Amino acid sequence: MKRKSIVALITLVAALYPAFGQIHISTSGMSLLLDAEKGCNLKILYFGDRLSSSDAENIMFSGTADRNAYPPYGLDCPSEAALAVIHSDGSLATELKVEDTSTADNGNSSVTKIRLKDPEYPFYVTVCYRAYKDVDMIETWTEIENREKKSVVLTEFASGFLPIRRGNVWLCHLHGAWANEGNVVQEPVLPGMKIIKNKDGVRNSQTSHAEVMFSLDGKPMENSGRVIGAALCYSGNYELKIDTGDTDWHFFFAGINPDNSSLKLAPKEVFKTPELALTYSDEGLSGVSRNFHKWARNYRLAHGNTLRKILLNSWEGVYFDIDENKMDRMMADIASMGGELFVMDDGWFGVKYPRNQDDCALGDWVVDSKKLPGGISGLIGMAKKHGIDFGIWIEPEMTNKISELYETHPDWILKSPLREPVYGRGGTQLVLDLANPEVQDFIVGTVDALMTENPDIDYIKWDANMSVMNHGSQYLPDDRQSEMYIEYHRGFEKICSRIRTKYPDLTIQACASGGGRANYGVLPWFDEFWVSDNTDALQRIYMQWGASYFFPAIAMASHISAVPNHQTYRTVPLKYRIDVAMSGRLGMEIQPRNMTEEEIDLCRNAIAEYKIIRPVVQFGDIYRLVSPYDGLGLASMMYCSPDKDKAVFYWWKTEHFRDEHLPRVRMAGLDPDAEYSIQELNRIDTVPLPFEGKTFSGRFLMETGLEIPYTHTVASEDRNDWSSRVLYLVAK
Ligand code: GLA
Repeated sequence: MKRKSIVALITLVAALYPAFGQIHISTSGMSLLLDAEKGCNLKILYFGDRLSSSDAENIMFSGTADRNAYPPYGLDCPSEAALAVIHSDGSLATELKVEDTSTADNGNSSVTKIRLKDPEYPFYVTVCYRAYKDVDMIETWTEIENREKKSVVLTEFASGFLPIRRGNVWLCHLHGAWANEGNVVQEPVLPGMKIIKNKDGVRNSQTSHAEVMFSLDGKPMENSGRVIGAALCYSGNYELKIDTGDTDWHFFFAGINPDNSSLKLAPKEVFKTPELALTYSDEGLSGVSRNFHKWARNYRLAHGNTLRKILLNSWEGVYFDIDENKMDRMMADIASMGGELFVMDDGWFGVKYPRNQDDCALGDWVVDSKKLPGGISGLIGMAKKHGIDFGIWIEPEMTNKISELYETHPDWILKSPLREPVYGRGGTQLVLDLANPEVQDFIVGTVDALMTENPDIDYIKWDANMSVMNHGSQYLPDDRQSEMYIEYHRGFEKICSRIRTKYPDLTIQACASGGGRANYGVLPWFDEFWVSDNTDALQRIYMQWGASYFFPAIAMASHISAVPNHQTYRTVPLKYRIDVAMSGRLGMEIQPRNMTEEEIDLCRNAIAEYKIIRPVVQFGDIYRLVSPYDGLGLASMMYCSPDKDKAVFYWWKTEHFRDEHLPRVRMAGLDPDAEYSIQELNRIDTVPLPFEGKTFSGRFLMETGLEIPYTHTVASEDRNDWSSRVLYLVAK
């Protein structure tokens, strides 16, 4: 048959059976349309706004992506591939045809699985999609199964692929460094290849992040425009690629970074890739953030629907200089300010090698009885006396050259056989080999011992302060050395899930030299992450702004610290530091003993007020209003309760000049017809704001907004160049 008549026949069949092989995966606001005709390639036709069933049926006549939904390498594949396999006979070509499909309803979500098979090899890939009913999120992953007689090698194994129609598409992603994590980068997607990847091995969000957004309508807007969001749910090395060649489409791939990580699949072995979470909103970047936050709170974050406690962490207050009296005093101080939890950071352990600095004792998780004669139980007793809970810092994936653990188990570290160890922090730190089940048992045992001896430990800060600097697992066999990175994170996941099974109620913070572990791979086991070791309030605005693209406030640990700031040496007034910290999960990281009575009072008041707004901040919907990155001299954002009866509005001046003209900020997310009363929180001004206690309609606040005074009305000796406001809105 000639090509033309084949096309005519296909068109006729398509007209008669418009939804032939079509699978419509949907949430309340999104659709993903596949063509899964048996014996053919699995095609992705559409991803975006929810389609009506008639539009879905006719979509093939409108022009669609019509792309292989999981493109394998080797046949008719001149561009990038999601999957590349060296088959058992050495062939590098893979073809995948639909064998069968199934959909299972799991209550809040439904899972669609499309099983693909190579026509020439007993090699299978199941492409999976989980669609949530109450959140606009579809997770996709694959299950790759080798049924060949011998092993195959996977050299590319993305979690998912998405074609995005070219036009004026912009990419938003996060980039940073230690003490400057999560900076927003916005750039147009241009022809060629854009790659965002990580090779740290342990921490995967200190520099770039595994989450991105695509603004489909030109330069990204916070509260308008169509946006696709994507988050790879993985804690290890990742690779996100956007390949723009000679078609109308940008091709987006996301998965584990395959660099130096080829994976051997033995016969009958199945490899499951991590989930790639996809979302869509026509309410701009903030709309996509709200989708991520809702999904995180309901499905992806440990205890996502439980309010977080207000805590004091000892790190910046005393660093390694821990002793019982200081801990007792800090607990008394945070309790007197209304705090609910005290967390003792690094420096509490090590017998043969006391941990007085960062070069020893990781792995020797035994209390230093010189510093803490009463042990952990003594500290818990003190916490109880003060009416607060107690938490503790550990860094269980690591050891030091100077440690009893390393003396006993030099075979437990990651290291290539003929090479000397490469040291990290303190010139002595080493990464344990989490591929090794004995190491997994040791780490689980460490937490278990701590918790068994001290069942009242309420919170663990789990740190990880080093990259993999020496490629080699002393546990994995020679022919599986390339799997070290993947096996490390498999081990990590096993450890986390064993700990979570036994201690489901524990609160656990993911810290990794600050914000190195802000990712949806770890968050099922962790309640929150430490946004950055940098606690400077001004720089935090930029970092927390970025983190809020993907992560909800309930997961973002945000602490009031001392001035001059220990990382930037900047002196920012306490009011401003409080107003910034109150936009996340509020805590303190300071020596209260060094504060004045007046400062203590301000914090006490802030903690009391935070308790009032906490449900709105931690469970609310985010609306970012004016970005600090736009250089307009201020940043502003707000949270609204889901039923829009309460809201918290933040306004932080980021620059200060005479004769400046800041924009008047229009609010968002309110009920236009509701009347909201306005109350300023953390007030330091000697006179109330003109609109204090007044009532305005949501419509007015969103169309016009309030004039926020540029400076504070305070005694002349208290004037300075900083200004910030937090307003609480309550519908009448
Ligand atoms: C890392 C963390 C800090 C602190 C120190 C302790 O740097 O990010 O918050 O816990 O370790 O050594």
